[in-house]
Amino acid sequence: MKPYSVKELLAKQPIGERVEVNGWVRTFRSNRFVALNDGSTIHNLQCVVDFENFDENLLKQISSGAALKVTGTLVESQGRGQSVEVQASDVFIHGTADPDTYPIQPKKHSLEFLREKAHLRVRTSTFSAVMRVRSALAFAVHQYFQQQGFYYMHPPIITGSDAEGAGEMFRVTTLDPKNSPVDEKGEVDYSQDFFGKETNLTVSGQLEAETYAMGLGNVYTFGPTFRAENSNTSRHLAEFWMIEPEMAFYDLDANMDLAEDFIQSILRYVLENCKDDLEFLEKRLLDEEKTKPQNERSEMSLLEKLKFVVDNNFKRVTYTEAIDILRNSKPNKKKKFQFPIDEWGADLQSEHERYLVEKHFKCPVILFDYPANIKAFYMRLNEDGKTVRAMDVLFPGIGEIVGGSQREERLEVLQQKIKDLDIDEKELWWYLDLRRFGTAVHSGFGLGFERMVQFTTGMGNIRDVIPYPRFPQNAEF
Ligand code: 4AD
Ligand code: MG
Repeated sequence: MKPYSVKELLAKQPIGERVEVNGWVRTFRSNRFVALNDGSTIHNLQCVVDFENFDENLLKQISSGAALKVTGTLVESQGRGQSVEVQASDVFIHGTADPDTYPIQPKKHSLEFLREKAHLRVRTSTFSAVMRVRSALAFAVHQYFQQQGFYYMHPPIITGSDAEGAGEMFRVTTLDPKNSPVDEKGEVDYSQDFFGKETNLTVSGQLEAETYAMGLGNVYTFGPTFRAENSNTSRHLAEFWMIEPEMAFYDLDANMDLAEDFIQSILRYVLENCKDDLEFLEKRLLDEEKTKPQNERSEMSLLEKLKFVVDNNFKRVTYTEAIDILRNSKPNKKKKFQFPIDEWGADLQSEHERYLVEKHFKCPVILFDYPANIKAFYMRLNEDGKTVRAMDVLFPGIGEIVGGSQREERLEVLQQKIKDLDIDEKELWWYLDLRRFGTAVHSGFGLGFERMVQFTTGMGNIRDVIPYPRFPQNAEF
């Protein structure tokens, strides 16, 4: 007999059939009702283990967290809350879970508590729902790009370049920290290191993706990315996954069109394919919101928010317009912003991004044409000589979810920029070659996958949407 998954069984409902299911006990009530979950769905399968038919010693081993194989007949349920149940004739205990020490008890645990039990938290409804949605989103990403004719490209994880120029990198070395070779200047001699040069974990696969776009046409990456920024926020991780499409012959407008269509399309996919999980997460969020003060509660439910993003165009606004709006905004005048906006050129903080999205426009916003000196070196300079063809997609509750740009394709302009920023041109010889040989207009962007999962699931903290979050002072598991 091939075992059913709980999901298959609840979908097919083969009443009267003798069935077999494996799973973990969520609850065991009245020494009789086992709620079994195998991770295939948010729903549990009720298994009736009639105590009259079972040995007392066996019943004692059934408790939350235990792994069971239940064999029995599928019948219509007498009780409320489920349509079918398994009338168990046989129970095999794969493994028990001592109720005195098993941390996940059938009661409400805080997300902070569960973060410390990250190896077990996927056995809760919340985390299993989040992780199923995460998986569906990842699938939707590939499906979208593959259907659009993009090729999946794998940039290196270990690299010698700092794509974003922010210097927030994790060093990769095999040198002994206590006994590193030094050069004449007394500095660590990386020529004797494994790669013969300084290397780090990638902060972005963009530069390598550009090289592939200039040959394959349209490509996308989807992989882990590392940033050693000391940001203890609910939106930053030291290790996160990023999706970076890069398109030859796309200008910034085409780039923005693609970003919008892409985001809407993957959200549509989860709306269609993760209904049960999203409904559960919507209820969870409603309960959480009830604990917040009235003025901080969201006006829309989770599903309303997702549908809103799918059905409405993103508002496109230049940085300059945004600065005007922010400068004249109530919180700025009343000095409510932690970083007041005084003049053109200021870098936008998440409080400003969220004001624009949540209070002013009340929809996703794409800001573009940012000041050159607050953006990375590779962005195309506008005719005004002071702004670049950058774009950020801003989302409610999240702030920046996408960062992208049209790339500087003119060799001399790029060389000048590299010089101005004191970047070592020699390190970027291959990147500059793209501008020497068959250069062309091209563009791309990066979507922070965890921020997308956060938005889709309504989870407040980014540490709760990745299996094992990496952040300052934490690399457990
Ligand atoms: O804006 P960023 O730094 O852009 C790039 O890396 C470009 N190379 C992308 C490109 O044009 N190909 O990062 C892109 C996105 C951000 O908008 C954000 O969603 C996410 O990556 N991100 C982070 N997510 C979690 N933790 C962090 N520390 C993140 N830093 C950026
Ligand atoms: Mg950015």
